[in-house]
Amino acid sequence: MCDEPKNVSVRCASGVLGELPADLICVPVFAGELPKDLGKFSAELEGALGRAWESGEITGKSDELFFTDTVDPNWQCRRLVLIGAGKRSDYGQEQARRIASVSGMVARDRHASQLVLLLRTTGEMSGMAQAVAEGVLLGAFRDSRFKTNSNSSAPFKTVDLFFEKKPNSTVTEAINRGAILAECSNLARELSNEPGNIFTPRIFGDRASDLASGPRTTVEVYDEKAITLREMGLLLGVAQGSAEPPRVIVMRYEPEDVEEGPVLGLVGKGVTFDTGGISIKPAADMDQMKRDMAGGAAVVCAMRAVGLLSPRVRVIGIVPATENMPGGGAIRPGDVLRAANGKSVEVLNTDAEGRLILADGLTLAQRLGATHLVDIATLTGACVVALGHHASGLMGSPASWVDTVRRVATQSGERVWPLPTFEEYGKQLESETADLANIGGRSAGAITAGMFLKVFSGGLPWAHLDIAGTAWSENAGPDHSIGATGVGVRTLAALPFETKW
Ligand code: BES
Ligand code: MN
Ligand code: ZN
Repeated sequence: MCDEPKNVSVRCASGVLGELPADLICVPVFAGELPKDLGKFSAELEGALGRAWESGEITGKSDELFFTDTVDPNWQCRRLVLIGAGKRSDYGQEQARRIASVSGMVARDRHASQLVLLLRTTGEMSGMAQAVAEGVLLGAFRDSRFKTNSNSSAPFKTVDLFFEKKPNSTVTEAINRGAILAECSNLARELSNEPGNIFTPRIFGDRASDLASGPRTTVEVYDEKAITLREMGLLLGVAQGSAEPPRVIVMRYEPEDVEEGPVLGLVGKGVTFDTGGISIKPAADMDQMKRDMAGGAAVVCAMRAVGLLSPRVRVIGIVPATENMPGGGAIRPGDVLRAANGKSVEVLNTDAEGRLILADGLTLAQRLGATHLVDIATLTGACVVALGHHASGLMGSPASWVDTVRRVATQSGERVWPLPTFEEYGKQLESETADLANIGGRSAGAITAGMFLKVFSGGLPWAHLDIAGTAWSENAGPDHSIGATGVGVRTLAALPFETKW
């Protein structure tokens, strides 16, 4: 499955812009710089475009759109859209990715099948090219698989990124990398958006096998027997209220001739629907809990990206998958469960299920040889309160490992922000009955959830990403559609390329 053809090809173009066959040319324009900024469009500036500039209809403010027909009869393409790119001095990779996403969305909505995007580069070329390739495919994504009257085909056939000068092979590789990362992010979005009745833990296992298997990546799916054999009592506890059996997805990427060195262990929360269990959630917005497996989807799709990008580091991906349901067999508040590492856990709130299944996932990652851990989860509403929707929470130890994850995430365009791990927070998890409780009271809910996971990190370098606020968008915007964002795929897939672990 890893070798299936890509839906959209993102290519490099240079030469004469007017000679490129296209349905739409997207031209980012910087604030306040028209008309001199668009020397090559001088013919256009005589017409509607020039008038729009004079009247202030287009100013170059970020996300602004202006459509016009091309006037030069020698041009292949009849349609042009100017896209406000903001101030040139603020234009870095992040803004380039955003403007490319706006272009992708616009092109999709206009049914353009061949798109040309003019690359505006300031500074370093390949990072910029990668960001633009990512942006255009992320922006073009729209999920309408469950609408009977929609055609869910690819948004367009080709995207040509147009460079003034023919770029070198480093740049074309960067474009290819960007396209892979965006496609894998979009696959994660599809998985996350699927409804709970269709996307059960068993189906998750099947889909992961399809998506992540490849020449150097194996996928194994543990069923309830295999899970019992490994004494993953926290996962089994969460699963026992459900009619659907749990699964553990185990993916291993093994590059040729790499038998030593670090092994990156990625663990993603795979709760295919979170009702809260006996500590049941309120009805409002409970439907959103179909995406409580977004962390798991990020790990599966990052493993696919890793297989396609071939870093020289071994990577293990683990996704404990289950529903959290309030069936007759469900765990009760006050129940004590035994974790895979032997620790006893008092479940004071059955809605704090993510940390339970991740704890057993972290133990399994260690057993399978991981030397460095990263977990990713839609873990706490408290993280949404703390950071809102514009950054994921990041915790871990030691600081050097957390810094590495932070740097890679930032470079990938996935914002994270650190939360502290002071010992006192861990004390909030003390239990009267067991080794620890699964909740730590009202205060610092995102942090105490992370502190729970730290207990199961076995002293290895460990980082935790809480994506509760970033895993989906409640509204569409000029650069993104509604629904799952695929957050985490780009960061997790970039980590094995980081040399300074
Ligand atoms: N899946 C939820 C967290 C969540 C909330 C994700 C909102 C995305 C949006 C998690 O399982 C949960 O229910 N957490 C509880 C923990 C509490 C019981 C300590 C929460 O955040 O309320
Ligand atoms: Mn929950
Ligand atoms: Zn949950």
